Amino acid sequence: MTIEQLLSPLQVGELRLKNRVVMAPMTRSRASQNDDCVSDIHELYYAQRANAGLIITEGTHPTFDGKGYNRTPGICNNAHVAAWSRVTDAVHEAGGLIACQLMHCGRVGHPDNKAKGTRTLAPSAIAARAEIFTAGGMKAMPTPEPMTASDIEAVVSDYGRAAERCLQAGFDGVELHCASGYLPGQFLASGSNHRSDEYGGSLHNRLRFIERVIEALDSAIGVARIGLRISPGNPYNDHVDANPEKTYGALLDLAELKGVAWIHAIRMPSTGIDSLALSRAHYSGVLIGSDSYTADEAGASIAEGAVDAVSFGRLYIANPDLVRRFQQGGPFNDMDKRTIYGGEGAAGYCDYPMLSDDA
Ligand SMILES: Cc1cc2nc3c(=O)[nH]c(=O)nc-3n(C[C@H](O)[C@H](O)[C@H](O)COP(=O)(O)O)c2cc1C
Repeated sequence: MTIEQLLSPLQVGELRLKNRVVMAPMTRSRASQNDDCVSDIHELYYAQRANAGLIITEGTHPTFDGKGYNRTPGICNNAHVAAWSRVTDAVHEAGGLIACQLMHCGRVGHPDNKAKGTRTLAPSAIAARAEIFTAGGMKAMPTPEPMTASDIEAVVSDYGRAAERCLQAGFDGVELHCASGYLPGQFLASGSNHRSDEYGGSLHNRLRFIERVIEALDSAIGVARIGLRISPGNPYNDHVDANPEKTYGALLDLAELKGVAWIHAIRMPSTGIDSLALSRAHYSGVLIGSDSYTADEAGASIAEGAVDAVSFGRLYIANPDLVRRFQQGGPFNDMDKRTIYGGEGAAGYCDYPMLSDDA
């Protein structure tokens, strides 16, 4: 019975997961318009999903400059700590664990989505050739400011301070978003990093920013509570690299060297790269697989050793009690595409029916 594999406990660094079902990080754009705080709907939404062995939050900016999207939450100040504390308390009370995904968007974003006076920073002054949603419709992403040496020092420290705040807010861990072309990926990829200092050029140099950030996170909360999210070869957000397999292989070697607690790899057959096999080849810690899994496939992948745990995204949007539904073999609610992003209230967010609510 492969479902038993999926429901068996797992040690991930210092975290003891009650099962191997992970809630995937998902931006839902419902933080407060004024101050990027989460609210009571987030508290309910995440507590409803505490049946997962580990929840990874939606991408959360470590600093106001790092915000890219409309209405994403931050972990940049004491108000954010207080707001997130209510969420982590609710998840813990419901018997779950929750890690904060730190997402510094770098050049991905638009001034319309960010607070006045914030900057759009990136390794080089190269705009992502892509559009982004704003309150005024889809807009082209602007050319970012190339980071100076002191900007880099400041952002590395910002990550460390954000991780300290995560600890204060009661999070059990932190996931560093290195996938999908955000700031860490912008340093890594040859297409977005044209620097000639020690942060650009060779692969060794392009890895240095992430290495410094991992060290800052480690000092703040300990490496046994840190994971990395990767999606080698994913062209999203104009993320272009000359040799993604080699680049991400080197990042995985770094994760191994530093003793990072988990790798959360999005599998993407369209890239031609087997991100799970690549992870296994370079990294011996816990591997969480992501993308379009069913419970059966997840259990079989764990049983054959391809992954140690599996994250579920869209299924968790529509099925708060997903683990129970897996145990019973369904049924599964359908996701309402109209309410994926945005909105103030519970609709399409924390009002999906639980099994016990069914007739
Ligand atoms: C609405 C939505 C928002 C997402 N936001 C994030 C995010 O903030 N950070 C991230 O790493 N991945 C994000 N993802 C990707 C998911 O974590 C996951 O990899 C993807 O949904 C595939 O898994 P699934 O087939 O189980 O849904 C998002 C996906 C969806 C559907």
